[in-house]
Amino acid sequence: MSEQNLINGWSDTAGVRIRQARATDLPAITELVPLAAGVRLEDVLRDAVTADIAGAALRSGLRGGAGAFHRHLAEQFARHLDDPLQAYLHAALVLVAEHRDRGIVGTLIAYPPINVAEDHLQLIPAHADRREVQKVVMLGAIGLAKIKAVAVAETERRRGIGAALLKRCRQVYIHCGYLLLYGAMPPTPGLSAFYRRQGFDVMEAGAPMDMWMVFGVHSTFLPGAGERFFFRRFQPSP
Ligand SMILES: CC(C)(COP(=O)(O)OP(=O)(O)OC[C@H]1O[C@@H](n2cnc3c(N)ncnc32)[C@H](O)[C@@H]1OP(=O)(O)O)[C@@H](O)C(=O)NCCC(=O)NCCS
Repeated sequence: MSEQNLINGWSDTAGVRIRQARATDLPAITELVPLAAGVRLEDVLRDAVTADIAGAALRSGLRGGAGAFHRHLAEQFARHLDDPLQAYLHAALVLVAEHRDRGIVGTLIAYPPINVAEDHLQLIPAHADRREVQKVVMLGAIGLAKIKAVAVAETERRRGIGAALLKRCRQVYIHCGYLLLYGAMPPTPGLSAFYRRQGFDVMEAGAPMDMWMVFGVHSTFLPGAGERFFFRRFQPSP
């Protein structure tokens, strides 16, 4: 697991490399992402890939471990005190699966979801000082990552590409010290089995998630209508 791997790719399945997305991959990603129902590539993420900001903190983490990842993000928070989303983007992971002959055949998008941290701000006392607010926003950025989309071209499915994308995503976030990787899936037949096979727990449709292990306070997050959460927890590093 190294920064060079993330940039140049891992050869996980026959003829396919999994690597970080580049600006030139964006048209292919834009086409693939809608295969995951209701998802699109947000402009802010597109810009972050173009500017090579997306994943910059994760690359620091792959170079120097969780400590380096945390330092990178802390610097970004200090630089963007009034716009923490800019720091969050440094922890966004956009992966592609590139086939030797057929080009980009799959993609995965994951990032710490800033809205979850913002919702937790309502759980801290109204008189709390600014440092408490910043702490919650930072905990969300370093502890929790959401898999927003995994999509593989229809003609390339059932060859392990989806599994390889998920595996590399999981490894990158574990390496950087994350505690929880999760997502919300639509009721597509076969999807629960797919995520379970990759080691995720799949919840009942509509069941809420509690993010206490990240924020240290209990909370209730509901999936969208008809969706169910899937998640994987990791042990905090000593
Ligand atoms: C889910 C998805 C990414 C899996 O990609 P993949 O490269 O085929 O995945 P793998 O080859 O690693 O695993 C295949 C397994 O996925 C499961 N699976 C997931 N969705 C499936 C579907 N719609 N039909 C059949 N099997 C499905 C099956 O268990 C299959 O295993 P099998 O071949 O032994 O039956 C791909 O089906 C896809 O892009 N679907 C549309 C987008 C989507 O729903 N994304 C997930 C929600 S964000």
